[in-house]
Amino acid sequence: MKKVLFILVALIIMGTPVLAFHDQGVAHCNGCHTMHNSQDGALVDPDSPLGNAYLLTDADPSDVCIACHDHIEHTLGTDPLAPPPLKGAGNFVYLLEDNLNDGHNGGLAANWIPGDAAGHNLVAPGHGLAADATLTSAPGGSFPASVLGCTSCHDPHGNANFRFLNGIGGVQDGLATFTNPAPTAAGISIFGPGAESQTNHTAYQGGMSAWCANCHGNFHQEAGGRLEHPSGSAIGGTVANTYNLYNGTIAQLGGVAATAYLAEVPFEAATNTTTSTAGPSGAGQVSCITCHRAHATSAPDAGRWDFSVTFLHEDGVESLSYQIPDPYANLNQRSLCNKCHNKDAGDINPF
Ligand code: HEC
Ligand code: HEC
Ligand code: HEC
Ligand code: HEC
Ligand code: HEC
Ligand code: HEC
Repeated sequence: MKKVLFILVALIIMGTPVLAFHDQGVAHCNGCHTMHNSQDGALVDPDSPLGNAYLLTDADPSDVCIACHDHIEHTLGTDPLAPPPLKGAGNFVYLLEDNLNDGHNGGLAANWIPGDAAGHNLVAPGHGLAADATLTSAPGGSFPASVLGCTSCHDPHGNANFRFLNGIGGVQDGLATFTNPAPTAAGISIFGPGAESQTNHTAYQGGMSAWCANCHGNFHQEAGGRLEHPSGSAIGGTVANTYNLYNGTIAQLGGVAATAYLAEVPFEAATNTTTSTAGPSGAGQVSCITCHRAHATSAPDAGRWDFSVTFLHEDGVESLSYQIPDPYANLNQRSLCNKCHNKDAGDINPF
């Protein structure tokens, strides 16, 4: 830990453009590994006096990553009610919440939905995180929850993929094998206060649903005779038109295609950029990432919005968890499923 802090301080002194560590490839080994578990005569990883299997600076790989990343851009964060700026994937801090249930009577202790439903649980005991208490493996697939960590999804030794995501091949030293490549996408800067906005957002270009399927199988795919919501398929002209016109419950036909993009309800398209504002054509794809964030959110099932409230302003009220901001900032705003399926039509505005 001391060593990691020293490296970070050195990086920061060198100035922002040099604030690189992975540098699109393998970073210097001792940012994460220790050869003797000893420096200046003291243990580098005091938790493992006999060292650990991968000679890491902390017993669990995810603790190694968080130790640095919480200093750079707060991947985890400290207070679930005051999350760090959103960069795309969402912060893991919501896993520490006691209750996420904003449905009717969600505040009653018997109805609580604990924080482990906020998203992907990491085995990072050094930061108070443990495997999911309910899900023992990835729904739709077989990836075990007991070993889920940063390196299940990101390559610790770097690669040329978007956010170093693991591509086809073995992950975690052969613990599992991915059969689908990393998604095509471009991310916003992870540094500084700049957060996701309608003009500064991940450009999802393709392949995300197939990538999630590395662990979740054909979940939410109309395959194997299962009837599920489409993912990784074209949204078609009718739904694209609804998306482009929809500008909130109070302006259901008020939008125009050139500015219809909603970062809270993204679609995949090769033409997306981190600053693009255009809505989809019929070829745009509905994707897992349309409804979920990759790390965690303050809604159950890592929802980009809370799927269990009628009006978005009800989010956080029963549970006292963080309220996901309503992009339309209107008390009458209903579920963001309406962006693609306008079912608000005929809505009587109660506010
Ligand atoms: C960002 C952190 C990080 C850096 C930097 C890093 N490693 Fe690793 N390394 C890991 C983690 C974590 C594992 C455990 C396997 C896993 O979780 O994927 C690992 C596993 C290994 C393994 C055993 C399993 C395998 O994948 O072969 C070797 C060997 C290894 N690292 C060598 C190196 C060398 C050599 C360097 C420098 C050139 C380096 N590592 C840099 C994090 C890192
Ligand atoms: C010694 C500090 C340090 C450690 C340890 C570390 N990182 Fe990083 N990480 C950085 C810095 C600095 C950046 C930003 C510059 C860069 O990309 O090199 C970064 C960037 C990243 C990015 C974003 C790359 C992009 O496209 O912008 C990912 C993803 C990432 N790290 C994952 C990991 C994972 C997973 C681990 C643990 C296996 C880890 N990091 C361990 C310092 C660290
Ligand atoms: C490396 C394997 C892996 C990948 C890749 C992966 N997941 Fe998961 N996912 C899991 C496991 C294991 C669980 C169950 C444990 C947990 O929830 O922490 C899970 C749980 C979930 C949950 C339920 C969370 C809860 O507790 O209710 C959602 C939603 C989810 N994943 C969505 C996604 C999406 C969307 C993607 C792609 C962006 C994705 N996953 C990629 C392994 C993976
Ligand atoms: C289930 C897979 C999964 C796990 C586990 C995971 N990540 Fe990610 N991560 C992603 C994906 C996918 C993205 C791109 C998300 C987007 O832009 O929508 C991402 C984005 C990032 C970014 C870019 C900034 C941001 O918030 O979008 C960083 C840095 C990062 N991850 C680090 C980590 C670290 C550190 C850990 C462990 C503490 C971790 N990730 C665990 C899948 C994962
Ligand atoms: C990015 C656009 C998009 C979003 C957001 C979206 N859907 Fe869909 N949905 C589609 C498309 C495309 C289809 C398939 C074409 C159709 O039936 O209109 C579909 C089909 C459906 C169907 C019919 C299933 C079938 O096979 O006929 C239901 C029900 C549905 N969606 C519900 C929802 C709900 C509930 C939400 C919010 C949790 C949601 N959708 C969010 C694009 C979207
Ligand atoms: C149209 C929105 C939408 C899309 C697209 C979508 N999901 Fe979901 N997902 C939901 C909702 C809503 C739930 C809550 C449970 C339900 O409605 O079945 C959920 C629940 C989940 C869960 C938790 C299941 C459990 O048993 O706890 C996982 C895992 C998951 N989704 C993964 C995925 C993956 C992987 C994809 C892409 C293949 C995906 N989702 C695409 C809306 C969506």
